[in-house]
Amino acid sequence: MKVLPCLALGFAIAVRATSGAWAADSGPAGEVAKGKEVFQYWCVACHGEGPMKPGTTALQAKYNGKLPARLEERLDLTPELTKFFVRNGVNVMPPFRKTEISDADLKALGAYLARSRP
Ligand code: HEC
Repeated sequence: MKVLPCLALGFAIAVRATSGAWAADSGPAGEVAKGKEVFQYWCVACHGEGPMKPGTTALQAKYNGKLPARLEERLDLTPELTKFFVRNGVNVMPPFRKTEISDADLKALGAYLARSRP
């Protein structure tokens, strides 16, 4: 059961995020919340915070601090960009099939990563 530690980590992040300026989200908040769940289930193992996160590590090397290494802190991720990488994959990141992340889940994920922040 490799999924359990991920869920625990996701929960920790969720708790931290709700204590912040989370309520200031604009747009359909339900979709953003759903997208966050999708991110925590499928993406956080590689794109989360801390050591041993191949996605965060690779993006740190790629952008060298010019853009945040963590996807959740990026302000330039449009839903189209997220969709492209999720369906096609890149380098060691696998493409995700519709049976894994449905079009509706991907739409929510795109909304989450493109959400407006203060
Ligand atoms: C197995 C680990 C892994 C998983 C799971 C993973 N990624 Fe990635 N992802 C990577 C790596 C590594 C890169 C950087 C590839 C490179 O350019 O070297 C990356 C790159 C990206 C990029 C491109 C960012 C940029 O500026 O180049 C996006 C967007 C992205 N991932 C989104 C996601 C989303 C959304 C999910 C969840 C559905 C996800 N990834 C799941 C490993 C992963």
